[in-house]
Amino acid sequence: MRVLTGIQPSGDLHIGNYFGSIKQMVDAQNNNDTFAFIANYHAQTSVKDGKRLAELTMQSATDFLALGIDAQKSIFWVQSDVKEVLELYWVLSSFTPMGLLERAHSYKDKTAKGIAANHSLFSYPVLMAADILLYQPDIVPVGKDQIQHVEIARDIAIKFNNEYGDIFKLPEYKIEANVATVPGTDGQKMSKSYNNTVNIFGEEKKQLKTIKKIVTEPVPLEEPKEYENCNVYNMAKLFLNENECKELQERYKRGGEGHGHFKLYLHDIIWEYFKPYRQRREYYAAHQDEVRDILKLGAAKAQEVALPMIDNIRSLTGIKY
Ligand code: TYM
Repeated sequence: MRVLTGIQPSGDLHIGNYFGSIKQMVDAQNNNDTFAFIANYHAQTSVKDGKRLAELTMQSATDFLALGIDAQKSIFWVQSDVKEVLELYWVLSSFTPMGLLERAHSYKDKTAKGIAANHSLFSYPVLMAADILLYQPDIVPVGKDQIQHVEIARDIAIKFNNEYGDIFKLPEYKIEANVATVPGTDGQKMSKSYNNTVNIFGEEKKQLKTIKKIVTEPVPLEEPKEYENCNVYNMAKLFLNENECKELQERYKRGGEGHGHFKLYLHDIIWEYFKPYRQRREYYAAHQDEVRDILKLGAAKAQEVALPMIDNIRSLTGIKY
């Protein structure tokens, strides 16, 4: 099965990105044909500082490798290194009804939050459709917030196929039910734009400070506490097995411990979980040339898949004359 996904280098990667996407790709790469890329063109919709975007692109690539994407098993590249995607984006634009984009939640949410409406924000899903359709994946693992974008990609593919035959494989999204929407420190969806993220990498002091910020119900120390709707518990359970979850539930029910204790526990389990990845990250951070070589090789492999596809599309649509 071919599995593909992308991540925007628009800030530090957080545990929502990890469980919603990165971990699924790392798990998939042993038994599938996996394609993972850093969506730097997409990040241009929000990062307007060029130097910063270039840094974040390398940082995200370094993080992704540290977290286990393996260039021997997966094709791993930076979106802008395979420029055919931009050509397909243009071709697909003519198969994208305005209404489809006008209904896109992410555009509506962003403009509602006061982010200036510009064309790239509006046409974002068309570029994402090009990302997907160029490489013909069967499955696109994403968090819940990206479902609509994958559906838009399908709709655009259907429009194109109606005109030119069975060219694009229709992609399916894949959602892991228990991590579809990882909550942030305020209980809303974890997101860079809500400033409620728990990052995967970073200094321990800063990490602890973030965890302490998690919003909890004020209940006296001695009293039993509800775990179901507790933001600390809901984050902790991502890292725990069934027995460990039960033990933590018992601690909530027993009383005698405050949310401060649970937060320290949460910090410890997150810190421990990412320890081996932090070590690998140090290696890649010190060997950025190696990261660049991996990305270059990945782009060449991705392009091998993209070129025949785009060539066929050029012929079909009359651009090749
Ligand atoms: P991005 O960069 O916002 O997020 C990367 C992935 O992380 C998932 N995610 C979450 N999952 C669960 N809970 C959360 N709180 C959470 N926050 C983020 C996202 O759903 C996503 O899977 N448009 C995409 C990037 C993209 C892409 C693509 C994805 C560009 N082209 C082609 C798939 C296929 C985005 O903005 O993801």
